[in-house]
Amino acid sequence: MADKIRWGILGCGSIAAKFADALKCVDEAELAAVGSRTDENANAFGDAWHVPRRYGSYQKLADDKELDIIYIATPHHLHAENTILCLNAGKGVLCEKPLAVNARQGREMIDCARAKKRFLMEAMWTRFLPLMDKVRELLADNAIGEVRMLAADFGFRCSDRAEEKQRLIDPYLAGGALLDVGVYPLALSSMVFGKPLGIHSAGSFGRTGIDEQNAMILTFDQGRLAVMYSALQTETTQEAAIMGTEGMIRLHRGWWRGNKLTLVRPGKSEQLIELPSHDNGFVYEIKAACRDLREGRGENALMPLDESLAIVQTMDAIRKQWGFKYPFESDVENVKN
Ligand SMILES: NC(=O)c1ccc[n+]([C@@H]2O[C@H](COP(=O)([O-])OP(=O)(O)OC[C@H]3O[C@@H](n4cnc5c(N)ncnc54)[C@H](OP(=O)(O)O)[C@@H]3O)[C@@H](O)[C@H]2O)c1
Repeated sequence: MADKIRWGILGCGSIAAKFADALKCVDEAELAAVGSRTDENANAFGDAWHVPRRYGSYQKLADDKELDIIYIATPHHLHAENTILCLNAGKGVLCEKPLAVNARQGREMIDCARAKKRFLMEAMWTRFLPLMDKVRELLADNAIGEVRMLAADFGFRCSDRAEEKQRLIDPYLAGGALLDVGVYPLALSSMVFGKPLGIHSAGSFGRTGIDEQNAMILTFDQGRLAVMYSALQTETTQEAAIMGTEGMIRLHRGWWRGNKLTLVRPGKSEQLIELPSHDNGFVYEIKAACRDLREGRGENALMPLDESLAIVQTMDAIRKQWGFKYPFESDVENVKN
């Protein structure tokens, strides 16, 4: 392996640009190549970020022998196909959230990574922020007693940009609030409570047929509960709270990219805790993936593949309750149009 971990980016859209910025801030990483559906886009992106190698085809990017890992930055419906392309070409993969549209796809991706002995991780960058390190530390120290409930939401109004940001509302690209932003509260709940025993949910649908907003209650053993919602047409509080028998951890507005929490405990003054935060929060997941590759691991201990799959399974179960499937899903059991 070269001195620096050599990254490629597949799909040159808006989040790819933010990721390219982040790579420039990580000493142990270099952005060596980009791949796009067109030469024009690959070259424009390559010029903007001074990327040495540009390809007007995802296959050509995957076949680049001088790459260690490829970041998948395409719409949800392509995550599985693009990831498997890169794994089969011998590359590690960091795939944008959600790992997959459904559990069938997720399992294929994970099976492929394990069979090829290549690194794979869902780019759930929130999990790697110093804020989440602190949350895990407080929970491990029993700072709020026995954890009983969690509340979290992520919603914003995208209608002004909907034409420009078609992937958010296009069912053919697996758009919708659940997969796009609902996955963040679900991942938080998964980090705190693990896999749910029961799921209760409701969704509201927009003119293109995708879920515009949704509400979810997950149940866990010993009566523990997580209450969450997500939205693409509604401004929500964008807050989270982890609540226990002896207090509460409040994550402030914008918690999935945040650096502040308040520890609230009866009889004690509230404690505002501010954590370090890089301007570009992707640097933490990049450093984690570089470390895993350097040390020869096939997956990341903080965001393991079985957990990413369990989150996708929860989203499948939620969509089943709504009777909602994407147009390209013919084989999702018990799901009707
Ligand atoms: N981590 C985060 O904070 C965060 C934030 C936003 C989005 N995301 C995730 O990042 C991924 C991409 O989102 P984005 O906002 O960057 O999307 P975007 O701006 O639309 O870019 C997606 C790129 O994918 C490629 N692509 C391939 N087939 C496509 C198709 N049929 N339609 C549209 N684009 C296609 C295009 O690149 P080429 O033309 O160059 O091939 C396009 O520029 C999604 O999985 C999303 O959930 C993550």
